[in-house]
Amino acid sequence: MRAVVTGGAGFVGSHLCERLLARGDEVVCVDDLSTGRAENIAHLLDHARFRFVHQDVTEGLEIPGRVDAVYHLASPASPLDYLRLPVETLLVGSYGTRNALELARRDGAAFLLTSTSEVYGDPQVHPQPESYWGNVNPIGPRSVYDEAKRFGEALTAAYRRTYGVRTTIVRIFNTYGPRMRADDGRAVPAFFTQALAGLPLTVTGDGSQTRSLCYVDDLVEGLVTALETGVSGPVNLGNPEEVTVRELALAVREVCASASPLTFVPRPEDDPSLRRPDVSAARRELGWAPRTPLAEGLARTVGWFRDASPVGEGVLPALV
Ligand SMILES: NC(=O)c1ccc[n+]([C@@H]2O[C@H](COP(=O)([O-])OP(=O)(O)OC[C@H]3O[C@@H](n4cnc5c(N)ncnc54)[C@H](O)[C@@H]3O)[C@@H](O)[C@H]2O)c1
Repeated sequence: MRAVVTGGAGFVGSHLCERLLARGDEVVCVDDLSTGRAENIAHLLDHARFRFVHQDVTEGLEIPGRVDAVYHLASPASPLDYLRLPVETLLVGSYGTRNALELARRDGAAFLLTSTSEVYGDPQVHPQPESYWGNVNPIGPRSVYDEAKRFGEALTAAYRRTYGVRTTIVRIFNTYGPRMRADDGRAVPAFFTQALAGLPLTVTGDGSQTRSLCYVDDLVEGLVTALETGVSGPVNLGNPEEVTVRELALAVREVCASASPLTFVPRPEDDPSLRRPDVSAARRELGWAPRTPLAEGLARTVGWFRDASPVGEGVLPALV
C-alpha cells in the first residue's frame, strides 16, 4: 500500500506516518512546515519506505507513481495557528482539499478528510451526533477554520457523488499527546507548559466549559480503520469522556506533580461551551472506540513536555 499523508509533519500526521510505516506501507509525507515541524519526522527520514515532500498543497499536489490512499490532514489546526493564518486556512481547506481529492481521483485511491468537531460550532445539541448540522458563525474569527472544514466536507461529498471517489470524512474532536507544540495555544500544551514551569494555569472563563480529549494513538487507529472500512461518513472520532477545563487543569497539574495555582482569564469569542462526541457511529460502523483513559494519556504525554517546553513568560492562555 502506498499512502500520501498531507500534513504528515504535524502532530497527528507524524504519528499516522509512523503507524503506516510500522505496518509495512510506503509513505509520502507532504507538508509545508507552516504549523508542523521537521523534528516530528526527523527520525523517519532514513526509512526506506518514507519520503518527505516539502510543499504547500494549496499550490498543487503532484506525486509521481501510483497512490493507493490519500490521508488529507494539511491545515492549521490550533486556534492560535488559524487566527494567525486566516486566509491560508481557508485556502488549504478549499484548494488544498481539491488538490488532494484530484490526486485520489487520478489513481482511484481511497481518500480520507480529517474534518473537525468545529463544524458543529457552538452546538445546541449535546453530545453531537453526525446528523447535527451545527451552529457556526460564518463570519466570526473562528469561521476561517470552521467554514474551511465545512467546505472541505462539501467538496469531498461532491467528489464522491460526481466522480465516484472512495471518500471518507471523519470529524476529529480534541486530541492530545506527544509532539503537540508547547506554544500552540491549545489547553493541554498550555497547562503542561505552565505546570512544569511552576506558573499559574490559565483557565478560560470560569473553567466550567467542557472538552473531551482523545489520546493520539487511539485517534490514529480510528483514521486508519476509517479509511480501510471505506465508510463515507462523516464519522465522529473522539473520546466521549467529558471533563471541564478546570478539571483538565487539575489533572495536568497532578501528573506534573506541580503546585501551580489556577488563574482565570477571559474566554475567546465563539469559544464552544460544551463539546462531547457521540461516537456510536464509529463503534457501529468501524468497530472503533478510544481505549486510553485521560489520566493514562496525560501520563504518557508529560515526558514530551518535560523535554520540549523551555517556555517561560511567553506562555499563552489556553484557547481550546
Ligand atoms: N489535533 C486535534 O485535536 C484536531 C482536532 C480536529 C481536527 N484536527 C485536524 O487534524 C489535522 C491535523 O491536525 P494537527 O493537530 O496534527 O495539527 P498540526 O498543525 O500539528 O498539523 C497540521 C500539518 O499540516 C501542515 N500544513 C498546513 N497547511 C499546509 C499546506 N497548505 N500545505 C502543506 N502542509 C500544510 C502543517 O505544517 C502541519 O504539519 C488537521 O486537518 C486538523 O484540522 C485535529
